Amino acid sequence: MVNHSPISSSSISLENILIIGNGGRENSLAWAIQRNQLVKKVYLIPGNAGSERINKCERIKIDINNKNKLVEKLDFFKIDLVIVGPEIPLANGLADFLRKKNFKVFGPNKDGARLEFSKSWAKEFMQDANIPTANFWKVNSLEEAKKIINSSSVPLVVKADGLASGKGVFIPNSKDECLKAAESIFNGRFGNAGDVVVLEEKIQGPEVSVFALCDGKKYILLPTAQDHKRLNEKDKGPNTGGMGAYSPAPLLTEDSLDRINKEIIKPTINELNKRNIDYRGVIYFGLMITQSGPKVIEYNCRFGDPECQTIMPLMDKNFVFLLEKCSMGNLTGGEKIDTSDRVSACIVATSKGYPYEYKTGFHIKIGNIDANDCQIFDSGTSFSENGQLLTDGGRVLSIVCQDKDFDMVFEKAYKNLKEIHFEGIYFRNDIGHQVRKNFSKEN
Ligand code: AMP
Ligand code: GLY
Repeated sequence: MVNHSPISSSSISLENILIIGNGGRENSLAWAIQRNQLVKKVYLIPGNAGSERINKCERIKIDINNKNKLVEKLDFFKIDLVIVGPEIPLANGLADFLRKKNFKVFGPNKDGARLEFSKSWAKEFMQDANIPTANFWKVNSLEEAKKIINSSSVPLVVKADGLASGKGVFIPNSKDECLKAAESIFNGRFGNAGDVVVLEEKIQGPEVSVFALCDGKKYILLPTAQDHKRLNEKDKGPNTGGMGAYSPAPLLTEDSLDRINKEIIKPTINELNKRNIDYRGVIYFGLMITQSGPKVIEYNCRFGDPECQTIMPLMDKNFVFLLEKCSMGNLTGGEKIDTSDRVSACIVATSKGYPYEYKTGFHIKIGNIDANDCQIFDSGTSFSENGQLLTDGGRVLSIVCQDKDFDMVFEKAYKNLKEIHFEGIYFRNDIGHQVRKNFSKEN
């Protein structure tokens, strides 16, 4: 019997929260957190123009690499909890540093962030813990890579070991393309991130994102989500950071989630413990549901973007307490997130040309957006000198809506998206095609 203990506690001070990061993910976290009445202020370093439209939010202009200044600011603003959004500061040990300075931090230390910043380490980790994942070879030179590629009887995927802003994975269609990918990585295309290459067996199946909030020992799962990584409709074109998402993912039934828990999530937490890694943050399990069962494609040490924007509006007002409990090692594991029975849909609007070269600085006009169950989370926006909202990134913003079912929620999201205008706006019209019953009739 699961003990659904209350997740709020009036004795905890959570007046001032700091979120590090500048994307839509961080804006959606800020939006979810400010809904709690105990929270007086949510600071973002650096945030973006969209952060300023969120209730209680304020941006702080400071370089997080200037550690002394950072601590000074955190003390000055009496920060009760720090949430580190992106992987790079986590990989650089920001959470370790802030914990040593006695701040409460949601986000793993550098040892835990290794799940994301070294693909070969993560593969060996999974191998040791018997966690289902694609077969792999860790290679240190082009010569080694050539031998494996030439002798392989199965199609391979080529990955730079380190962080490469989501661009370090190649899905070649031939041995020749495979060799070229390995060569370009070893030739320094991703700098040191490509000193080691991981060759992986190519596996097949739909992908889902599962998020576990961990306190070091215990964890709870957020609603599942499905991202759309390809740029174009019908899941064609180059990989992007994500063009849209929905939550929960009906593909994951209760039974399949039980299996994922048993075969993947619990063994991951156990293996972290075995290695004395006190992981306090979110683990993002990028899974592929293959014919032989769920397999881990990748771990990330942060929330997914745009999955986070999609999931946050489903959280209840006590979400911030969960993050605080993780930071303190205080989860019971039985906390219940009241997500009601709504579903959530997110569509990302990008600049023309993304994920390659694109222009920025176009004026964004936002018309009449539904007042309820509809949010805009900016990913790449800034202000002009006279205060106009401008495009300032590849992924510019996402529109996120909640409703009773996927047909209703996507109709609402696309209707509201029509109210957003900027030169070169691009988005996919088929986000959620997997779950929209009306979709095949309309198209
Ligand atoms: P990653 O950055 O590791 O998430 O990889 C980006 C995308 O490449 C994934 O979302 C998958 O679509 C694809 N991918 C990664 N690894 C494999 C694999 N072993 N087999 C097939 N596709 C893969
Ligand atoms: N949505 C994919 C990612 O955040 O990596």
